[in-house]
Amino acid sequence: MKKLKLIVLISGRGSNLKAIVEQADPLIDLQLVISNRPQAEGLIWAHQKGIPTAVIDHSQYPNRDTFDQALQTKIDHCQPDLIALAGFMRILSPQFVSHYRGRLINIHPSLLPAFKGLHTHQRVLEAKQREHGATVHFVTEELDGGPIILQAKVPVLPEDTEEQLATRVLQQEHRIYPQAIHWFAEGKIQLRGNQVWIANQSITSLSS
Ligand code: GRF
Repeated sequence: MKKLKLIVLISGRGSNLKAIVEQADPLIDLQLVISNRPQAEGLIWAHQKGIPTAVIDHSQYPNRDTFDQALQTKIDHCQPDLIALAGFMRILSPQFVSHYRGRLINIHPSLLPAFKGLHTHQRVLEAKQREHGATVHFVTEELDGGPIILQAKVPVLPEDTEEQLATRVLQQEHRIYPQAIHWFAEGKIQLRGNQVWIANQSITSLSS
């Protein structure tokens, strides 16, 4: 089977990147890790592992469009099949997002559509939710609003601190992100219009 050419975009710790690398999926060719922060822990880790890395430092560009253009040029040079955002802390322009429609995915630490945006664990605790989780989704123009590919739920326990809850969610992120990418590599996931199809079934019919 043909390998999936993958690029991962990060900004920080890179634990999801590590989970993807450590699954050592024979169907995946990780072509490049790009960080917008030169000191990102995940970037240093990838470099030490011998994975090709690149820095496109947002602070060196006058605005979002020029940064996104540089990022796009770098990505397109590799002609990847899939681009995975893994803790990439930049909002991408509509032009960039539409250029990669159907092959740009993200992992978000909440059960979307609930708790879009930042500080999800703290907000879940404040809202006294009993369930929380993580979501892999396609990236569209709407921030954290693209079609959902895969979710994992965790319980919120009565004495949970933000850190304990974040750790429980992160364990699930490390399970479902490599899983979703593996399905991509198998050719099982497609975005058709605004609907996710897994193995030729729409998500709606899978969950019903
Ligand atoms: C994760 O919680 C991910 O869901 C969110 O940012 C965090 C990145 O963590 N988008 P890491 O850099 O992968 O450790």
